Amino acid sequence: MENSETQILKKSAAENAVEEIKDGMIVGLGTGSTAKFAIESLAKKIKEGKLKNIYGVPTSNKTKELAIQLGIPVISLNECYKKLSSENINDLKPIDITIDGADEVDSELNLIKGGGGALLREKVIAQNTKSFLVVVDESKLSDKLGEKFFVPVEVLQFALESEKSFLESLGAKVVLRKNNDEPFLTDEGNFILDVYFGKIENPAELSSILNERAGIVEHGIFLNKLVDKVYCSSHNGIKILSVS
Ligand code: 5RP
Repeated sequence: MENSETQILKKSAAENAVEEIKDGMIVGLGTGSTAKFAIESLAKKIKEGKLKNIYGVPTSNKTKELAIQLGIPVISLNECYKKLSSENINDLKPIDITIDGADEVDSELNLIKGGGGALLREKVIAQNTKSFLVVVDESKLSDKLGEKFFVPVEVLQFALESEKSFLESLGAKVVLRKNNDEPFLTDEGNFILDVYFGKIENPAELSSILNERAGIVEHGIFLNKLVDKVYCSSHNGIKILSVS
């Protein structure tokens, strides 16, 4: 259980990022405890009439339930594309802003995500977003990925043992994620392997090695080319980090 100071820092990062949302935007809704603060803040602004004509695109079933419960109008990614083609706009990224958390952020703003098991839809939504905002407290920052967190890897049930063995052959310790003694199931019905590589010197290289495997559906390394800004809160306030 996290202490209340961490919760306050997460809330502050999330609320600051929500300030970037403007009327009429399509907003990607992240998954996890920090993203939840952003969703709550967005819902409050909609309820108070401070933001109008907002649609949320959830990154998980859990986030979808929360958004609906809080009164945020929800659309799917597929509906975003239908909306675009009906408006005849030639835009490859229909989502204006996505606000999502991360498990680790390195000094070059590469991320590890997927602690909550939603990495696949989170990456799809990030790839369809014009401005991907990451919200974290300072405890998530590290020099190199893997110093603080393992890499969640989503695999086909069909290929579980094969991908476990492949990941072990890369020198990693591999643990099947469980939920009450049963394998954890993602929203797409896949398994998650939590993979301990240790310090990752070259995230881009590791990402492309993992991308090559057919049985790996997706992995939790989000390279910095996906990231526009990181809102990082500490006891000294908020810092907004960006790659360039
Ligand atoms: C879910 C995620 C989360 O964004 C990540 O695990 C961070 O979670 P939290 O904000 O609860 O610390 O990637 O799949």
